Amino acid sequence: MSTTTFSPSAAFQETAVASPALFDAARSDYEGFWADQARRLLTWEKDFTEVLDWSDAPVARWFADGTLNACVNAVDRHVDSGHGERIALHFEPESGEAESYTYAQLKDLVCQVANALVELGVQTGDRVAIYLPMGVPAVVSMLACARIGAPHSVVFGGFSADALRSRIEDAGARLVITSDGQYRGGKTLPLKSAVDAALADADIEDVRVLVHRRTGMDVAFQEGRDIWWHDIVPAQSTSHDAVVVEAEHPLFILYTSGTTGKPKGVVHTTGGYLTQAAFTHLNVFDVHPESDVYWCTADVGWITGHTYVTYGPLVNGVTQVLYEGTPATPHKGRWWEIVEKYGVTILYTAPTAIRTCMKWGPQFPREYDLTSLRVLGTVGEPINPEAWLWYYREIGGERCPIVDTWWQTETGAIMISPLPGLTTLKPGSAQQPLPGVDVRIVDTLGDPIEDETPGLLVVATPWPSMLRGIWGDPERFAETYWSRFDGLYFAGDGARFDEDGDIWLLGRVDDVMNVSGHRLSTAEIESALVAHDAVAEAAVVGASDDTTGQAVVAFVILREAYVEQADEEGEGGDLVAALREHVRSEIGPIAKPRDILIVPELPKTRSGKIMRRLLRDVAEHREVGDVTTLADSSVMDLISKGLGS
Ligand code: WT7
Repeated sequence: MSTTTFSPSAAFQETAVASPALFDAARSDYEGFWADQARRLLTWEKDFTEVLDWSDAPVARWFADGTLNACVNAVDRHVDSGHGERIALHFEPESGEAESYTYAQLKDLVCQVANALVELGVQTGDRVAIYLPMGVPAVVSMLACARIGAPHSVVFGGFSADALRSRIEDAGARLVITSDGQYRGGKTLPLKSAVDAALADADIEDVRVLVHRRTGMDVAFQEGRDIWWHDIVPAQSTSHDAVVVEAEHPLFILYTSGTTGKPKGVVHTTGGYLTQAAFTHLNVFDVHPESDVYWCTADVGWITGHTYVTYGPLVNGVTQVLYEGTPATPHKGRWWEIVEKYGVTILYTAPTAIRTCMKWGPQFPREYDLTSLRVLGTVGEPINPEAWLWYYREIGGERCPIVDTWWQTETGAIMISPLPGLTTLKPGSAQQPLPGVDVRIVDTLGDPIEDETPGLLVVATPWPSMLRGIWGDPERFAETYWSRFDGLYFAGDGARFDEDGDIWLLGRVDDVMNVSGHRLSTAEIESALVAHDAVAEAAVVGASDDTTGQAVVAFVILREAYVEQADEEGEGGDLVAALREHVRSEIGPIAKPRDILIVPELPKTRSGKIMRRLLRDVAEHREVGDVTTLADSSVMDLISKGLGS
C-alpha cells in the first residue's frame, strides 16, 4: 500500500524545538537523558542524586531523593523569572464575557485557594475530589491541591452521582470541590446536586464541600458541610508557602475504565510525571512559549486535560486558551472563531471532533482566518487518513504538521508521535516512539516482531511519567499491566510496523471500548444494565461508528415479566428508552448505548464466556464469523432472526 507522505518544510526545520540530537542522547544513555530533561525543564528545591530505581519493579521511582513542588513549577517560577505579565489562561466561556489571567494573577488566585484548602482542614497527603466544569476554577483547584501536596482526583463533570460516589469513596476524599452547575450545549446543567446525591449514600465521613458559583442556579446547602467559594477564597492572603514534596509524592489519582466493572484509580507522582509532561509538550507541539498561543480542547476531567492543559503547558510557561463549551454552541464555526480571536498557533484535539467538523462541511472553518495555526495534534484513537487529510487541508492550510500522539491515562504523557520539523508525516500512523521511550511490538508469547505482522504494543523500559500503581490495589496493578509478559508493560493495544518501521495502532485488544476518544469498559456498562429490574443478562460491544470511532451496542436478555412489553413496543419502545436512560444515570451520558437489542440468548463458549466477536459482527451488520466454539451454535440464528435480518 502506498501512502502519501509530507516532508517538513525548510522554514519549519530551521525553528524546530526538537532535534535529532535528542534521539542520540537518549540512545546512548537513556537515564542520563531523562535526568537532563528533569533538570533543564523543572525547578528543583533539592536536586536528585539517583535517576531511576527499578529494584521494586513494577513500581518505578524516578529522581527519588529530589524535592520540588508542582505548582511552583507551573506558576511561581514564571513570575519569579520576570514573566508575571504573560497571559497564562484565556478563558472563553460558552457564552458571555471572556476572562484572561496573567501568570501573576494566577499565582495570587492559586495561593488564595491553597490557603482556603488549609482553612478547610485539608492536609498534605489528603485526597481532594474535583467535580467542576472546564474553566479557571478547575485548573486553579488542581494547582492549589498540588501546592499543598494533596493529591487531586478530578471527576469529569459528565459523570453521574453514582460514578462520583464510587470515586470519592475509593480515594477516601476529604473535600469535594464543585460548582452549582455548568453551561453545556446551550443548557444549564446541575452539578452540586450530584455531589449531594453521591454523599448522601457514600460510605465515608467528614467530607466537606466547596462550591463555586458558576450559573447562579438554586442549590441545597448543608450547614457545616458546604461552603461557598466566594465566602472563603477572596478573603485569603495571596501568599502561601508551597509545600515542598519528594519527587515520588502522589500528584493525582485519575480513574479510568478497565476490563472489569470497577474503574481503576491510576496514580501519578510529581517529579517524573512533570518531567515527561513538560518534555513532550515542548517537543511534540514545537512550543515557543514567548510567542505561541496553545489550545487543547480536552476537558480537565481526562488525562489529556491533566497533562496538556494544566501541567505541561503551564510548566512550559505558555499562553493557552481554555474553552468551556461544545464545538457547536452557539454555531458550528465556534472553534474556528476562537482560533481567530486569540490567534491560536497550536491546536490539540481528538479525531472524533475532526470527523464531526468534516461532516458539517468546510464552509464553517472557511469563514475564519486560521492562518495563525502552526501545529495540529490529535489524540485518543487512531485517526483515519481521510480525517487526517481534511484536518491538514481545511484547518492547517497545508502548512501545519499534524502530530498523531499515542499514549494512555497510565503512561501519563505522550509516548509515540511524529516530531514537527523532524518527521516526514504519514497520515494515519503515530509513527515513532519519542526519545527515551522503548516501545515494542510483540507476539502472544512476548517475542519481538520486526516485520509487518500485527502484534501487541508493549513498553520495555520504565519511563518517567509511568503510573506508579492503582490506588489501593497493588495486585490489580501487577496483574493488569505486568502479568502478561515478564518485565514488559502491556498497553492493551494492537499495533504493527509498516515497511519503514513506522507504528500503526490497531485498537484495543481487550474489553475496553473507545467512544469519541473516551475509554469505556464493556463490563461496567453490562453491570449497569443488569442492575435494572427488566434485565436478566447483558453483553456490550463496541461497534465501529463513522463519527465516534466506536459506539456502544448492548444485547440484552429480559426477565420473563418484561418480555411481552418489549414484544409489543419493538425497538423504539419505552423499555429500550428506559434502559438507555438507566445507563446514562448510572455512569454518564458518554456511556449511553447507541443501540440496545433485545435478544432471547447470548452466544457463549462451553466455558460460559460471551463471544463478543460474534456480537460485533451482528452490531456491524456483517456476516457472522466462525461459530464452532459456541456451546450452542443455533444461538446466532435466534439472535439474527430476532433482529429481523
Ligand atoms: C487508549 C488510552 C491519552 C489520552 C486520551 C485517551 C487509544 C490514544 C491514540 C492514538 C490510536 C490511541 C489507545 C489507548 N489511543 N491515543 N493516537 N492512536 N489509539 O486516554 O482513556 O487512557 O485511552 O486510547 O487505545 O490505549 P485513555
